[in-house]
Amino acid sequence: MEGVVDHTMRELLTDIGGIDTCVTEFIRVTEHVLPNRVFYKFCPELHRQSITASGVPVRVQLLGGKPEPVAANAAKVAQLGACAIDLNFGCPAKTVNKSDGGARLLQTPYRLYDIIKATRAQVPKHIPVTAKMRLGFNDRSNYLDNAIAAFEAGATEITVHARSRADGYRPPAYWETIADIKQVVTIPVIANGEIWSVDDFLRCKNESGCDDFMLGRGLLSCPDLALSIKAHQLGESYTPMKWSEVCDILQSFFNSTTDLYPQKHTGNRVKQWLNYLRRQYPEAQNLFDTIKRYRTKEEINQALSACASTQNTSLTSM
Ligand SMILES: Cc1cc2nc3c(=O)[nH]c(=O)nc-3n(C[C@H](O)[C@H](O)[C@H](O)COP(=O)(O)O)c2cc1C
Repeated sequence: MEGVVDHTMRELLTDIGGIDTCVTEFIRVTEHVLPNRVFYKFCPELHRQSITASGVPVRVQLLGGKPEPVAANAAKVAQLGACAIDLNFGCPAKTVNKSDGGARLLQTPYRLYDIIKATRAQVPKHIPVTAKMRLGFNDRSNYLDNAIAAFEAGATEITVHARSRADGYRPPAYWETIADIKQVVTIPVIANGEIWSVDDFLRCKNESGCDDFMLGRGLLSCPDLALSIKAHQLGESYTPMKWSEVCDILQSFFNSTTDLYPQKHTGNRVKQWLNYLRRQYPEAQNLFDTIKRYRTKEEINQALSACASTQNTSLTSM
């Protein structure tokens, strides 16, 4: 997820567990082949066989509207060691759509076809080329055409964010459309959108008929969601992560990210994550309110430590 799930976040989330694969933020491709440093910036895991420290494969996602540059960049990042290339046909952002990429391409399935076909032709056969799509641009009328185009162009699998670009991120996600897609293609289809809990997962599984799922915001609001889903599937009991544990992870996250930004932005990444976490953990709102006026690393670190230890103390005394 652009601006949110960078390699630091991937390290922490995959370390918690339950995740089989992750995808980088999209890398925008226009005309040229990008220098190595761009790929390494978005995917430092390329230095380590394209896996996170906990051994989870990381796919590199490209976004662009022109077949040749997208294919050439895909070939290059494959050479750098990417375990798979994912192509983005879902991004709704205006700037991206003006530059002719992301969900806009869903208006012309033949263009999506050309991009995947060209990419497939230039990337070595053993490296998957996957597609991530929404259900359409202005409406949800042509998702089958796009899914068939992706399939016929040689995509290894398709992830479907079950909303149109016009639907934005508003619930519901139309999981039943994914079942339609599964009827017309013979490659794996991965269901995505509005999975915030084990219950959502079960309903999505039932309505989409899928065996594989992508978690977006749900994993940020509940970092052990993948673990709890897996435990449920195995019929095992599961104790959800306590807020104190989340605070420890937040502190690691803060310490890994804070020096990457100017002082005035210290804490912004933690605040951004708290914004997702408050859906699952009410305590996240209090912490957000506390640190929002802090400007120094020390103040924020102290607040995070206090939060983790206060919670731990009260839990121990119960
Ligand atoms: C802030 C933000 C950034 C995102 N960036 C990307 C991206 O770079 N590539 C992509 O394929 N999807 C991206 N998405 C879409 C998510 O991957 C996912 O498809 C969408 O949020 C629906 O799933 P969810 O309801 O589980 O969040 C982004 C979503 C958000 C909210």
